[in-house]
Amino acid sequence: MANTSLLHAKRLLLGLTGGIAAYKAAEIARLLIQENIDVQPVMTKSACRFVGPATLQALTGKMVFSDLWDDRIANNMAHINISRDVDVILIAPASADFIAKLANGFANDLLSTLCLARDCPLFVAPAMNRQMWENPSTQRNLTLLRRDGVIILGPAEGAQACGETGMGRMLEAQELVKVILSFFQPKLLQNKRVLITAGPTYEAIDAIRGITNLSSGKMGYSIARAAQEAGAKVTLISGPVCLESPFGITQINIVSAQDMLVAVKKEISNVDIFISAAAVADFLPAKISNQKIKKVGKNISLKLVSNPDILEYAAGLSKPPFCVGFAAETENLEKNAKDKRIKKKIPLIAANLAQDTIGSDESTLILFDDKGKHLLHKAPKIVQARRLINHISLLYKK
Ligand code: C5P
Repeated sequence: MANTSLLHAKRLLLGLTGGIAAYKAAEIARLLIQENIDVQPVMTKSACRFVGPATLQALTGKMVFSDLWDDRIANNMAHINISRDVDVILIAPASADFIAKLANGFANDLLSTLCLARDCPLFVAPAMNRQMWENPSTQRNLTLLRRDGVIILGPAEGAQACGETGMGRMLEAQELVKVILSFFQPKLLQNKRVLITAGPTYEAIDAIRGITNLSSGKMGYSIARAAQEAGAKVTLISGPVCLESPFGITQINIVSAQDMLVAVKKEISNVDIFISAAAVADFLPAKISNQKIKKVGKNISLKLVSNPDILEYAAGLSKPPFCVGFAAETENLEKNAKDKRIKKKIPLIAANLAQDTIGSDESTLILFDDKGKHLLHKAPKIVQARRLINHISLLYKK
């Protein structure tokens, strides 16, 4: 995962309780530190049976606390001091027993006492056997925690260490870290409704052949994630790509430009901002054959007709949302992008060189708006997406 350099180092208390998923906490700590987050591990006695405190100490460079009576803390109030020093607490893994303690306000070990004495948000990633998860008492405790404002992350369904299959697997380290990073992003688009198109479209020629554009969808998906992190309600209309849906967004999958237009028309009246990152195929075959076209002579010719321009449609509405376009060019980048912004009547366009960006995890972007040109130096797409959201939040005022 890329270092997305939070402006100020954030501090997180990582609480480990007893469960086999405790081994994943080491990876969580490592990924958080890579993201410039200061991690303070606290382990219950049972957690120490699954993974050694030395592992967490070495990864975080911090003393690991597990004892309520730890006399390394000057005033002997570990439960107060440690929780005051952090911006957020993440319990991963959270056992059924620990969830029960949290829900009922127990404070009979260091970690539960720290949670009770906290003045910061608490995230809990449950991990347990499926029957423990499904047990009404566990579900009752989770309802209580949610009511108290605790954020429950997962669990997922799948194979369990006990050999059974079902709900109860802890979310993967990467997924949990994404949620924490998202929590730390500034809420620049709080409650704004953002519609994003991403990926290529595919225009069928016959039952098995088609024309498409080269596009991985990585930029559009990163923008969806960045907008969601910024507090927006995000709908992502995606062409066929091999990417996982970003956490917490509504996704509509489409195939052709026509499908994309239908989906955009359905959503557009409900949004504040429209970001058109999709590589829409400009043309489609005039006639689509339901059957595979057979080889009859040496050559065949294909008549192509224009696809609708979805961005132009959105920008041309009587009350358009704030529209953002993309220009992927192979030459004359700046001139083509500027011309496109004017032609499509949009306030902002993001330009990039197609040969440098397609399929890559990084890109260089140049933004053009009424004030001129803004260079976003080469960086991972998620970083560029956050910069773009930041720029949009400055221009968009409603
Ligand atoms: O004209 P060009 O395809 O280069 O413009 C790129 C911008 O227009 C992108 O934002 C793209 O998503 C959008 N577009 C569209 N519908 C099309 C073609 C492009 O929305 N048919």
